[in-house]
Amino acid sequence: MRLVMIGAPASGKGTQAHKLTRHFNLDHISTGEMLRAEEAKRSELGMVVESYLKRGQLVPDSLVVKLVGERLAHNHLAQGFILDGFPRTLNQALALDQALGEVGQAIDAALLIEVPDSAVLERITGRRADPETGRIYHLKFSPPPPEILHRLEQRDDDTAEVMQARLNTYHERIAPVVAHYRDRGQLITVDGSPTPDAVFQELLHQLTERHPNS
Ligand code: AP5
Repeated sequence: MRLVMIGAPASGKGTQAHKLTRHFNLDHISTGEMLRAEEAKRSELGMVVESYLKRGQLVPDSLVVKLVGERLAHNHLAQGFILDGFPRTLNQALALDQALGEVGQAIDAALLIEVPDSAVLERITGRRADPETGRIYHLKFSPPPPEILHRLEQRDDDTAEVMQARLNTYHERIAPVVAHYRDRGQLITVDGSPTPDAVFQELLHQLTERHPNS
């Protein structure tokens, strides 16, 4: 199963990608996580990446396409993957189609999680990540066990100011990506407002309807 996951900041892409990864035994490839890992290295590339992340802007297509291409080549494409947060521009979508086409493959579905902008701020400010397990929690919606509270981390770009920039960027760039997958009959849209488990069940339902042997 080869999936891409699209959605606004804090729409639940990471949360659902973790669940789908476990369910279908996929390789979870998050461009946000890859870019934050580059940033943490404090390399020249990391400094360039940081300058975009802290402003809530997209990192240039050439850079992200290269990172994703290397990651896909490094893994066994046949195993299946879920791309979380990629593509975010039409150029990225076309580059992915081309890379997969060269090895005789294509995306099985593009999953779009829709949430109203009004829900995003509360989700972002309450998000915490566990650096030991990589698990994502929310202080209100998905509370962590009290004994690990002390070690949870908040992302640098999870502030109200940067969030607004991330949201604006998303709305400016995503329409042609959505149209691209809709035109190819690959788009699955779900409402991301219900609980994470309910969203997951809806994703599974739509995916298995479309791909009964998955
Ligand atoms: P990235 O890390 O991908 O950030 P994002 O798109 O802003 O998405 P988030 O990670 O904030 O949210 P999410 O949708 O994964 O939600 P989550 O499941 O965590 O990218 C960061 C930056 O990197 C970008 O701004 C850009 O600069 C750059 N970048 C990345 N990819 C790029 C690309 N392809 N091209 C160029 N630049 C790129 O959930 C959020 C919170 O809500 C959590 O606390 C969770 O517990 C909670 N929650 C989840 N689901 C629910 C629910 N159903 N109900 C209630 N709470 C919920």
